[in-house]
Amino acid sequence: MAPNSRKNRRAAVGLATTLALVGSGLAATAVVAGISLATATPAAALQNSLARTPQMGFNNWNSTHCRPDFNEAMVKGMADLFVSQGLKKAGYTYINLDDCWALPRRDGNGDLVADPERFPSGIRALADYVHSKGLKFGIYSSAGTRTCDRNGFPGGLGYEQQDANLWASWGVDYLKYDNCNSQGVDARTRYQAMGDALRATGRPILYSICDWGRSTPWAWARDVGNSWRTTGDISDNWQSMISIAHRNQALAAHAGPHAWNDPDMLEVGNGGMTDTEYRTHFSLWAQMAAPLLIGTDLRTATPATYEILKNTDVIAVDQDPLGRQGTVVSDSGGLVVMSKPLADGSRSITLTNETDTPRTISTTAAAAGIGGARSYTVKDLWSKQVTTSRGAVSATVPSHGTAMFRVTPASPTALPTGVFDLGDLAWTDADNGSGPVERDHSNGRRAPGDGRPLTVNGVVFRKGLGVRANSSISYHLGGTCRSLTVDVGVDDEVAQGRVRFRIYRDRTLVADSGVRTAAQPALRLTADMTSGRKLRIVATSPRGGKRTGHGDWGNPRLACGAGPASGTHALSDLPWTSASNGWGPVERDRSNGETKTGDGAALTVDGTVYPKGLGVNAPSTVTYYLGGTCTGLTTDVGIDDEVGDKGSAVFRVHADGRTIADSGLRTGRDGPVRLTAPLDGAYELTLQVTDGGDGTFHDHADWGDPRLTCT
Ligand code: GLA
Repeated sequence: MAPNSRKNRRAAVGLATTLALVGSGLAATAVVAGISLATATPAAALQNSLARTPQMGFNNWNSTHCRPDFNEAMVKGMADLFVSQGLKKAGYTYINLDDCWALPRRDGNGDLVADPERFPSGIRALADYVHSKGLKFGIYSSAGTRTCDRNGFPGGLGYEQQDANLWASWGVDYLKYDNCNSQGVDARTRYQAMGDALRATGRPILYSICDWGRSTPWAWARDVGNSWRTTGDISDNWQSMISIAHRNQALAAHAGPHAWNDPDMLEVGNGGMTDTEYRTHFSLWAQMAAPLLIGTDLRTATPATYEILKNTDVIAVDQDPLGRQGTVVSDSGGLVVMSKPLADGSRSITLTNETDTPRTISTTAAAAGIGGARSYTVKDLWSKQVTTSRGAVSATVPSHGTAMFRVTPASPTALPTGVFDLGDLAWTDADNGSGPVERDHSNGRRAPGDGRPLTVNGVVFRKGLGVRANSSISYHLGGTCRSLTVDVGVDDEVAQGRVRFRIYRDRTLVADSGVRTAAQPALRLTADMTSGRKLRIVATSPRGGKRTGHGDWGNPRLACGAGPASGTHALSDLPWTSASNGWGPVERDRSNGETKTGDGAALTVDGTVYPKGLGVNAPSTVTYYLGGTCTGLTTDVGIDDEVGDKGSAVFRVHADGRTIADSGLRTGRDGPVRLTAPLDGAYELTLQVTDGGDGTFHDHADWGDPRLTCT
């Protein structure tokens, strides 16, 4: 590169915060700049199989803070009330301790010690008590030298494995890990260390990351924890609650099964808001697929508080198996409409009035993403009234109130365009040899969720369905789907077993695994779903197989809808199906400005200006639906000139999870390099940028002139 080629560079941009190194969630491949290659991607690393839907439970902090009324009697009282008041039945599972449970000093062995005044029987006995009620037990610490309360109890930094082992020995099922007194160690390193320690205990422990959104954890924590706080602490007033909702609403793209945005615990019932405002709080948290952690003392809660917390229709929205966070449809003059897709093809719609006077708020099924049906059933999830509509959804909403509706098309509509995990969709019928069909778990024995990670011959599938032969599951497709790929096999939870997997499109058999044994690895099936109205997946066993026929449908990916038209497209002119970015939004035809859409400059790598392309900041992934008809992608890649010689990143292109091009390390000193990626009729294209091994600071990465060819 000519030494003067940098002289016209725009001023280097300083980033506000240092981010830690972010590893690729996808397969590493041989580094061959500019050369196409195809290698299989192993299953994504499974952290744990917990929080398939957002966690629900109790945490004392919003009620007691560090006061002495946070004690054994209180915690036991909550467990008792969970059972006697029907909260357990409604889905609340975890009873969690927050800060101030420990003594200010570790013991002579360096172990944490419970405060004997608050918890005279000790934590293990308390966990046993909670378990005896069929509930789970959680604890708190900080990823620093001391916790957050001003008394500063011991934190976990440097003690990760010792503390995790102690908690596991006590029977802890959940850790909230706070962010105080971090000693300048970056967040990713601190939270990863505890995640690794929890995993090494061998006990499944739900991991709730609490760095208040400071390190943009939504960009890196998916494979580290089960949820991450997105904001600072909530307070028991309208302004605090609604401003947290606004910030969390913008992060919808990052949430999904096992990995949730956490806008902090519930204040419902604590007295600082009206019941109307608390209904808004609860509705919005459910609509955002947020963890639902009750934060009030249930021993003194009013009937109205119980009625809010036990609204099973609203809870069902939060816990819907599709696992999507609702998004904002419209937001004008304090009237906010949100829509959340649900697994049965319906939508939850919220109408929130943030103004000081009653207002009428209106939207339509089409605006919410389910237009096209002749009529809709509309259920008001608070009044329980059911009406029918041709598509209009409207309500007069009191000041600070929220109307919430479940809107269901009268006849099932076709699945929307995209690639879906079959395990996230609602089935129309399911029969199973024993116990329920499990999502993202093996079959287990009887109770829902009692299985383990889906595992065939040591290979773990993060997504899928765990069944017991003989089993049959049906789905409504509606004629727009094209293909189903799935890895099938006998789960490792049985040493012997024989299962045959078959896939039917309407009545036609379109894939058949033959009999698979426990000794065999998973087998990939690809089934043509073109024009199918119904999908049926069947697992049978020669002798019924009730005991041994534990079958796994691993990573079942259903592709539906048409891709881009034939011809060559500038990728930045096409809509993506999902996008995540280290700083600010992914930019079309602009470099990454770090904050708002359009705040970057012209995409420029080593003096070459690209009128078309994508400007991102590591870590970033952008995914497009291709519909099986595209043949190739070419693109230049490089670090944008706006960061001078700084910045480094690796660009990779993936098709249906396989890595098909890899740039190797590109730094701010390099010119652009051309990648050519063969698509061979893939359904999903992902552009990924990871940091160059030195953190994401200055990693303004450009996809220059990416062109997609489709037939
Ligand atoms: C931080 C957390 C809170 C709570 C307190 C405890 O502020 O964000 O949720 O855990 O610490 O000290």
